[in-house]
Amino acid sequence: MKQVIYLFTWILLIQEYVWSFRFVQLTPMKSMKLSMSNNEEFDAFKPGHAVLQRNRYDEPWVPQRIRPRRNRKNEVIRSMVRENIVKPSDFIYPLFIHNDNYKQEISSMPNCFRHSLTTMLEEITEAVSFGIKSFVLFPKVPDHLKTSYAEESYNPNGIVPTAIKMIKDKFPDVLIVTDVALDPYSSMGHDGVVVNKEIVNDLSIMQLQKQAIMHARAGADIVAPSDMMDGRIGAIRDALDSEGYTSVSILAYTAKYASAYYGPFRDALDSHPGFGDKKSYQQDPANGKEALIEASLDVAEGADMLMVKPGLPYLDVIYRLKTHTNLPIAAYHVSGEYAMLKAAAKQGWLDEKKAVLETMMCFKRAGTDVILSYYAKQVAIWLAETGGYI
Ligand code: PBG
Repeated sequence: MKQVIYLFTWILLIQEYVWSFRFVQLTPMKSMKLSMSNNEEFDAFKPGHAVLQRNRYDEPWVPQRIRPRRNRKNEVIRSMVRENIVKPSDFIYPLFIHNDNYKQEISSMPNCFRHSLTTMLEEITEAVSFGIKSFVLFPKVPDHLKTSYAEESYNPNGIVPTAIKMIKDKFPDVLIVTDVALDPYSSMGHDGVVVNKEIVNDLSIMQLQKQAIMHARAGADIVAPSDMMDGRIGAIRDALDSEGYTSVSILAYTAKYASAYYGPFRDALDSHPGFGDKKSYQQDPANGKEALIEASLDVAEGADMLMVKPGLPYLDVIYRLKTHTNLPIAAYHVSGEYAMLKAAAKQGWLDEKKAVLETMMCFKRAGTDVILSYYAKQVAIWLAETGGYI
């Protein structure tokens, strides 16, 4: 009996072996035939090798329980499960100001202007009517006021303190943010004081403290140091506190990269660096982890919000900061990003409204709480068409 079982097993094994040969030979021949000479329409239900099933009503059916499209089937359900919204109160609207009494369009930033103090107030009035309540001011300073120590940056009668007072007079509830950096006032076009072609850290901080105090005295609600000197957040916090401005906030430009996307802004302020670049203080675009070092320092030094700049090319940095810290995160959708959208829209290559609103939503999805954008007013106008938010 045992021998019979052995024999039978052997026969089976040999048979398998022979069949496997046939299989190896047949497979390539069959697939060659399919791909080369068969022009018939693919039939998913072909008897013998059906690849698709039918349900009991004979309709095609790919058996799967999980179908994410159910949560996208109409706008009601889409808006029900939407994870983020964009609303006017998310925005800080940057405004360029100058001492001339006319408004002048910036050629590389269509529909953005250097405002006179009068047209600045008109722009704010309109923006406020659409729900934009926060503004950041950038002055264009005439050349004769630019010096190597940027003393004009803390002139109490300078354009920024004057503008702050005018805005606060008319709109006491509007939030005013100021940029703390020396470049608009520096004869060298750098964010700090230059000595022997070097941007000197601690000496620059001394000037930045004076500038921040002057902004606070004029009524600024938030000062935003954009200079990237080491230790400036703590130093400015101490200076503000020692003058009694404990409730003036600091929005730190935490991860500000040495970026080509600032080009149009420098056109607007006529603040291109007089020599070299800003790589010895602004971050290397290659570095992501470095932003976390900057973030820990700014948190420890008393920053109230952290900013990443530019915005869209640096969404990963926004996300990293959001997950590594507990402070609100701001993103600056900078001049070059604005210019790109405007240029493509002008050519008819992009639907401006859709592309801009998508961009703003992407900021929110990446973890941004506050968006600085030259599109702020326009976005608020578009949002008003859809009930105030998307
Ligand atoms: C200067 C400053 C810059 C921007 C904001 N503050 C330019 C720079 O660092 O050279 C850029 C903003 C933009 O491009 O929209 N401290």
